[in-house]
Amino acid sequence: MVTVEELRRAQRAGGPATIMAIGTATPPNCVEQSTYADYYFRITNSEHKTELKARFKRMCDKSMIKKRYMYLTEEILKENPNLRAYMAPSLDTRQDIVVVEVPKLGKEAAQKAIKEWGQPKSKITHVVFCTTSGVDMPGADYQLTKLLGLRPSVKRVMLYQQGCFAGGTVLRLAKDFAENNKGARVLVVCAEITAVTFRGPSDAHLDSLVGQALFGDGAAALIIGADPVPEVERPLFELVTAAQTIVPDSHGAIDGHLREFGLMLHLLKDIPTLISKNIEKSLKEAFEPLGISDWNSLFWIVHPGGPAILDQVVEILALQPEKLRATRHVLSEYGNMSSACVLFILDEMRKASIKDGFNTTGEGSEWGVLFGFGPGLTVETVVLRSVTIPK
Ligand SMILES: CC(C)(COP(=O)(O)OP(=O)(O)OC[C@H]1O[C@@H](n2cnc3c(N)ncnc32)[C@H](O)[C@@H]1OP(=O)(O)O)[C@@H](O)C(=O)NCCC(=O)NCCS
Repeated sequence: MVTVEELRRAQRAGGPATIMAIGTATPPNCVEQSTYADYYFRITNSEHKTELKARFKRMCDKSMIKKRYMYLTEEILKENPNLRAYMAPSLDTRQDIVVVEVPKLGKEAAQKAIKEWGQPKSKITHVVFCTTSGVDMPGADYQLTKLLGLRPSVKRVMLYQQGCFAGGTVLRLAKDFAENNKGARVLVVCAEITAVTFRGPSDAHLDSLVGQALFGDGAAALIIGADPVPEVERPLFELVTAAQTIVPDSHGAIDGHLREFGLMLHLLKDIPTLISKNIEKSLKEAFEPLGISDWNSLFWIVHPGGPAILDQVVEILALQPEKLRATRHVLSEYGNMSSACVLFILDEMRKASIKDGFNTTGEGSEWGVLFGFGPGLTVETVVLRSVTIPK
């Protein structure tokens, strides 16, 4: 008879959790940031609010975003005046959209990840689905399982309403699943659609306008497992450690409340300062065990909540500007896609590393860090290890 200890050992994987494929997707409707203020004030019948529009235009101009993708088209907004108001009962309309569209966008990203992985989808053992866009039962994890035709016995976890830090949370969970369940292959999906937060402008709520200037739609999917099968599965990054913490004295800096008028966000002005003041502590805790203290020796993946956050992080840590190239690229091309952003940045980093002739998937560095920031303030810190790019 085997002992419990032997059983436990047999359940564990040998090596670290490893990202083996990445897929991304966006809705087709693309909005240009340079003309977004005109569009937004026109579609919300707010053109008479000229001062507010000028302020919104300044936010858009300083956002460092070129374009974003949004499920909500001009036609949909015209048909649904309650989505265009600042605060009108609209939750049913918003839910009708996101309950259907979030799993569909997630499926598009997942299919690309599964294709890159190259293995039959019947080998997927776990699903972790994350969205801040709506809630439902059974959840988006269930809908995705049905849409993809995964095994009914696939083990699912659904994370609703976590906010922007959750791109780190999904990695932390997938790491535990992969390392504690030998042979596990975890499909991770983050899908975000701004139909829950889109609303007209109000003079009394300027931070809502910040959200309108920054947020975009997108989905990203990963396949994560330990002990990749040689010659069959291709490792991209290893997940070495993962931690979560609450920033001191940050209560209320970011929150979101789901009400009959949709998800209402509050973003205090001192978010960039709170994050940058506390980031080095998280870095030290993560990298001291590895004997690393030169932050410029790492490759960097930072949730691009807004350019002010990135600028302050660079300044306080004296980072070389190019360390945030992939992060800033994703912000510029897609805006802030909440939980999906850091996964898009991982994708950009490994692709650009190959294109630019680096010898690792982390732009030539071995060790890297991924930061998620969001409501709480909550910070997720994931230590990553790149892999060698074959010549
Ligand atoms: C919004 C943002 C792009 C503006 O860029 P900036 O370089 O800071 O530019 P400014 O300081 O001139 O701000 C532009 C306007 O936005 C306003 N603003 C910025 N943050 C604001 C906030 N949280 N609430 C209300 N207004 C805000 C400023 O008051 C300013 O208004 P004004 O032009 O009438 O003076 C930048 O502040 C940013 O990245 N903020 C972080 C966003 C964030 O918190 N994201 C977290 C989500 S995870």
